[in-house]
Amino acid sequence: MTQSLTIARPDDWHLHLRDGAMLAAVLPETARDFGRAIIMPNLVPPVVTGAQAAAYRERILAALPEGADFAPLMTLYLTEDTDPDDVAAAHASGLVKAVKLYPAGATTNSASGVSNFENVRAVLERMAEIGLPLCTHGEVTDHDIDIFDREAVFIDRVLDPIRRATPGLRVVMEHITTANAADYVRSQDANLGATITTHHLIINRNHILVGGIKPHYYCLPVAKREEHRVALRAAATSGDARFFLGTDSAPHLDGDKLAPCGCAGCFTATNTMPLLAHVFEEDGALDKLEGFASLNGPAFYRLPVNAAKLTLQKSEAATQFPEKIDTENGPVTVFDPGYPIHWSVAR
Ligand code: NCD
Ligand code: ZN
Repeated sequence: MTQSLTIARPDDWHLHLRDGAMLAAVLPETARDFGRAIIMPNLVPPVVTGAQAAAYRERILAALPEGADFAPLMTLYLTEDTDPDDVAAAHASGLVKAVKLYPAGATTNSASGVSNFENVRAVLERMAEIGLPLCTHGEVTDHDIDIFDREAVFIDRVLDPIRRATPGLRVVMEHITTANAADYVRSQDANLGATITTHHLIINRNHILVGGIKPHYYCLPVAKREEHRVALRAAATSGDARFFLGTDSAPHLDGDKLAPCGCAGCFTATNTMPLLAHVFEEDGALDKLEGFASLNGPAFYRLPVNAAKLTLQKSEAATQFPEKIDTENGPVTVFDPGYPIHWSVAR
């Protein structure tokens, strides 16, 4: 039995850090284990311009614990008013690594997202020219489309048409939750990649709804049927370089999760690497964990692999993770897989 596994320091290719007191509380959780993270721009107001991204990056750097080995990779929030020249300048300066597409109304703080895709055509064309990836929240928002079908419909009605109309556009399908999405990625060329979260490898929709509603398992895109979870596991553990880790760790205060209209998001920054070691070991694929968490993402984003290493170790006793992370405004609950985890990160 493998007791210890050393891999290149991982990166998180989809992360919500928020701002202010929340940022201060959750940033150390990611900076402990990860070298870099793609920082989501869905603040209120959203991070739309290069100047806003530069200011947000400074706030993140200022909140980093002393001596942390962590670099935030900034993104811009695509709106119908986004200026292609501003995007190109933010990319050329090295500040911005991706642009994020939220269909308007699809998820938390997405009201400024895109409704009419014709209005972002010039930005997408410029991004294809300069090789700047588009990260997609892949769900349609049509009221007549069932929430469990919204990802599959997005692929057919939005993503595939955009990619056909914009040859060369590099796209990351973020937090995929269906076999349909994994199959679509496999059917396309290397300009398409996909991130998979930790929690979508662990839970299906029964975990949210059976035996009482579990708000801490509710996120968007919502977890689907078991067959989809199994398909995501197969993709993540396959070694196919187009699939890589994006935790979508999305902290909300407990008060906002445990409400009549509770927020979407699972907070997995604290225990993601031990959970992934468990998942990959369970699937007999521990040798594929480094690719998924540390190698495939940098390859897609055309960045070097981190020089630092991270060691995971397995012990007899179950690992004790904190149940909650405290913030100035209240606690944030750490994702609980519902079974004991024996892996931990060696410190
Ligand atoms: C994210 C958040 O809270 O910002 N929530 C989530 O359920 N994943 C937004 C998102 O990525 O959809
Ligand atoms: Zn997200």
